[in-house]
Amino acid sequence: MQNTRKVMEDIVWVGCNDRRLALFENIFPIPRGVSYNSYLIMDEKITLMDTVDACVSQQFLENIEYVLEGRPVDYLVVNHMEPDHCANIGEIIRRYPDVKVVANAKTAQMIGQFFDALSQERMVLVKEGDTLQTGRHTLRFVMAPMVHWPEVMVTYDETEKILFSADAFGTFGALNGNIFNDEIHFDKDWLPDARRYYANIVGKYGAQVQALLKKAAALDIQMICPLHGPIWRSNIEYFVEKYDRWSKYEPEDQEVVIIYGSIYGHTEQAANALAGRLAEKGVKNIAVYDVSSTHVSELISEIFRASHLVIACPTYNGGIFPPMENLLNDMAALSVKKRTVALMDNGTWAPAAGKQIVKKLEEMKDMTILDLQLSLKSTLKNDRAEELDAFAQQIAESM
Ligand code: FEO
Repeated sequence: MQNTRKVMEDIVWVGCNDRRLALFENIFPIPRGVSYNSYLIMDEKITLMDTVDACVSQQFLENIEYVLEGRPVDYLVVNHMEPDHCANIGEIIRRYPDVKVVANAKTAQMIGQFFDALSQERMVLVKEGDTLQTGRHTLRFVMAPMVHWPEVMVTYDETEKILFSADAFGTFGALNGNIFNDEIHFDKDWLPDARRYYANIVGKYGAQVQALLKKAAALDIQMICPLHGPIWRSNIEYFVEKYDRWSKYEPEDQEVVIIYGSIYGHTEQAANALAGRLAEKGVKNIAVYDVSSTHVSELISEIFRASHLVIACPTYNGGIFPPMENLLNDMAALSVKKRTVALMDNGTWAPAAGKQIVKKLEEMKDMTILDLQLSLKSTLKNDRAEELDAFAQQIAESM
């Protein structure tokens, strides 16, 4: 059975959902699934905007056949060559032997890496600002390198003022029949996954996202059709503002996230005591996470959201507790910056994690490391209550 929806009179969503995949990119848990979006523009010449992941090929091809009603696909626009979107290029060419593949030079090279190289006659090579007339629609191609691979481009439909935005403005989460942002409670149900998708997939490339946002600002955009998650046809500025903030590494909330590692529970106890003190000082919406049991992608997402981070970490083999070290390495890899960090470390005979964590934080850009640090020997005892209070006070005052 086909599963398609009209985006407008002559544009149809022919994407697919995947609720079976446990780990996106074999890294990120997606308990709410994911959608791979693809769109058919049913003009004088028919254009397919990207394809979908191999695991949903059957549904995708059924969707396309249903919408085409026997007509062929004339153009396949390849905005992004990551396999979650390009896996069906070969199958589309086999089924529609006259289809022209519209892509930039980098994409053409990658097509040759993933598949057999395509002949020149098969390709329509495009560069920044080139247009393709399909009848009523004029498609303009805008390069968006590193959002999220080097070959990425986005396509602006000048006729309907739609931005086909590739991975940009995408989110984790399968589409449950409702494919438009005004059919769902995005803020309540989708924002955490959207943030987690952005921070972990595109987070490293803030400068490149800013470059794309500047190009997009020059266009009159009435709708955004991303490759994952809902289509934006109203309140677009809400999501653009989120992207602007995230790509500048500016926090959404002036709030505290406490992330602790704890081998036998003593550092956890100290983190809880700190959270209580912070609350007494009026700090609201404190979030506390165990670094061992919370997926690192969730932690990264929370660090992108909040202004303040407390790291509470035991020493392990003379170094940083490994799950915390993994988080710190991920923060560095994703270019986290502009956060205020307070540090608590622990060690029974030689607390050493603190200094090593500070070194890693200092290598990140524009991080404020609060002066007062708390170093524990095995447990936080009541005779250190004043120190704990001062530690909490400096965090509260820095907010
Ligand atoms: Fe959804 Fe970068 O692929």
